[in-house]
Parts: sequence; structure tokens; C-alpha cells
Amino acid sequence: AGFTTIDLSAAQPNVLNVEKWRGKPIFVLKKAKDMKTDPRDVVMGDDHFLVAIGLCTHLGCIPAYLGDEHKFKCACHGGEFDASGHQIFGPPPSPLEIPPFKIDGTKLVLG
Ligand code: FES
Repeated sequence: AGFTTIDLSAAQPNVLNVEKWRGKPIFVLKKAKDMKTDPRDVVMGDDHFLVAIGLCTHLGCIPAYLGDEHKFKCACHGGEFDASGHQIFGPPPSPLEIPPFKIDGTKLVLG
């Protein structure tokens, strides 16, 4: 119990998948080729993924992904995060948190 397995090989670029893990939303975003990579990315072959807990680090709302702008926007107080989860605007004090995970083949195992 407590483990969630996500098959990354099915992900489409720049489409946010929201999974559940321990009652929290988990954001999984495969980066399109024109999107900035980041040291925090999960890397699988040539593909880079953001994997982050989908809760705003200000007061815990769930930010929405704006695909055209490659950023997350939090409706609660206007905070914004880039597609790597770094805070870029407004009150969030820190990046989106990274959950504990392991890689098993093409699968991400949370927990
Ligand atoms: Fe997201 Fe305040 S909870 S900006």
C-alpha cells in the first residue's frame, strides 16, 4: 500500500497527467522538445519529465497547467511555476516538491 506506478512510455509531450499518491495529486509532464530541461527532470532515454507534487507551495491549492505558456498558474493567489516546477511569480516561496520515487524500466514507482 502507498505505492503508485505510472507508465511513462504512454505520456504525450506537453500534456499534464495528474495521478494520485497518498491522497495528493502528482503532476507528470513529459517535456516537448522545445521545452527547457532541468536538473530536477526525470530522464528516460531522450525524454525529460517533470514529476512533482501538484500542490502550490504557498497554501496548497492545485495549480492549473497552461500548456501554451508552459507554466502552472495557481488560482488562489496568482502564484506561477514554470514547467520544471520552479516558482516564477507571486507568493509561492519554493518550487513544487518532488515526491520520493524509483524508476523501474519505463515505470515510475512513487513511494
Ligand atoms: Fe497558490 Fe497561494 S496557494 S498562490
